[in-house]
Amino acid sequence: MEQTFIMIKPDGVQRGLIGEVISRFEKKGFYLKAMKLVNVERSFAEKHYADLSSKPFFAGLVEYIVSGPVVAMVWEGKSVVATGRKIVGATNPLAAEPGTIRGDFAVDIGRNVIHGSDSVENGRKEIALWFPEGLAEWQSNQH
Ligand code: CMP
Repeated sequence: MEQTFIMIKPDGVQRGLIGEVISRFEKKGFYLKAMKLVNVERSFAEKHYADLSSKPFFAGLVEYIVSGPVVAMVWEGKSVVATGRKIVGATNPLAAEPGTIRGDFAVDIGRNVIHGSDSVENGRKEIALWFPEGLAEWQSNQH
């Protein structure tokens, strides 16, 4: 079954949105397979966002991700990558539809509460990066 990597960013954690995010994914019918609260090291944040290293906002993005704990999660279900992106909403919260997480809870592209994998392949890579210990059998294929 398809899996995606979802991260609640430091602003989402600080603002008390962990339960809200989990609730939206659970109510949709997805399954939480792994979760941890992590204080990310700078080098790790740079690795996660390596594809964006040439962007002018890269340094600020890394600064933001290391500014406080994040919640790293693996969610599983039918079409969870694309549907998860719909639940998350557009990258720029001002363009995100009301009813999406970013549309409901953010106004700033540099403080957009949550990250979701943009493809199945990137989901696999991100899960491997964030959960190098791997997922147990029950976390991998129960549904
Ligand atoms: P995310 O879905 O985690 O993927 C890349 C992140 O880069 C994005 O969410 C934003 O947090 C950040 N980002 C993208 N574009 C900009 C921008 N123009 N200015 C600041 N941050 C950005």
